[in-house]
Amino acid sequence: MSWRTKSRLAWLRQLPGVSEDEPLASRTSFGIGGPADFFVELARPEMIEQAIEGCRDRDIPYLLLGAGTNLLIADGGIEGLVVRVVNREHQVEGTRVRAGAGLKMMRLARIVADANLRGFEFAIGVPGTVGGAVYQDAGCWGKEIHEVLVEVEGFMPGSGRQTWKPPALKFGYRTSALRDGDLKGGLVIAATIHLARGDGEEAKQLMAKLTRERSETQPIKTKNCGSVFKNPAGDSAGRLVQAAGLKGTREGAALVSPLHGNFIVNEGGATASDVKNLIERVMAEVKRRFGIELEPEVEMVGRWK
Ligand code: EPU
Repeated sequence: MSWRTKSRLAWLRQLPGVSEDEPLASRTSFGIGGPADFFVELARPEMIEQAIEGCRDRDIPYLLLGAGTNLLIADGGIEGLVVRVVNREHQVEGTRVRAGAGLKMMRLARIVADANLRGFEFAIGVPGTVGGAVYQDAGCWGKEIHEVLVEVEGFMPGSGRQTWKPPALKFGYRTSALRDGDLKGGLVIAATIHLARGDGEEAKQLMAKLTRERSETQPIKTKNCGSVFKNPAGDSAGRLVQAAGLKGTREGAALVSPLHGNFIVNEGGATASDVKNLIERVMAEVKRRFGIELEPEVEMVGRWK
């Protein structure tokens, strides 16, 4: 039975600022994907809470969207309500920094450097938002957000506002209880991180150097979703894809990056099916050649055929 009853549709249509059949492709770093049945962009936590609480009460599916990185949205679009979380406030108090879930990690990296804080330089290599980073313990250059995290202000439909300390979030390699555990469906409102005092200019120089290096090894100017696969224990997905001779392989306008084997690039007009087919081909070939099952890191959501 579809959730699309008259009363549910009427409730969705009265949400302030809501739109129907809203294209999502341009709101993802891949530039791919069908529309959201219903879409709203919200900054105020109470508004986001009301929206997802209302969905829970009515059994309407919902999805929280940040910067749309690490995400592959199906060509058939997304069922129910998509809430784009755009609360971007931040406060620096001594060595503690509180950041809204909708703030970009790269922007926060510059803000904390301006405040002469060190230890967050790795965030200059993380394309998503603070909320998205908490959701999957994002990181770069061997450092992840959980290493600087003090606590997360969250909201769980049915249980209200919560404060999650790192153990409650059950972080693992590109995962947390929000992505794969008992906090699924929960909202990140803001995260508080703890950094060290230091020279902001040195932080900026280091970030510039790291970004230069990243631009030499990753196709950062292209439309992509970041790493497609998790690295298998003790190995690297990019190395395996290269060793299997798969760099430059394509499905439609989706291409395995010739620069880095763990990136798929949308050359313009690639469909979600192109990308999914390419992912499956790569997985099959790496399995056949090396007996290793690659696990996608990119989250695939929506209505697949
Ligand atoms: N390699 C190859 N061929 C390739 C790509 C890589 O042989 O085509 C080799 C490299 O030479 C290196 C090893 O594989 O020896 C690892 O590659 P790299 O240093 O590029 O890092 P990675 O393991 O592929 C990880 C994160 C990235 C992060 C970089 C830099 C994962 C899945 N990926 O990539 O994170 O930016 O380290 O720290 O953990 C992301 O998660 O979306 C992401 C981009």
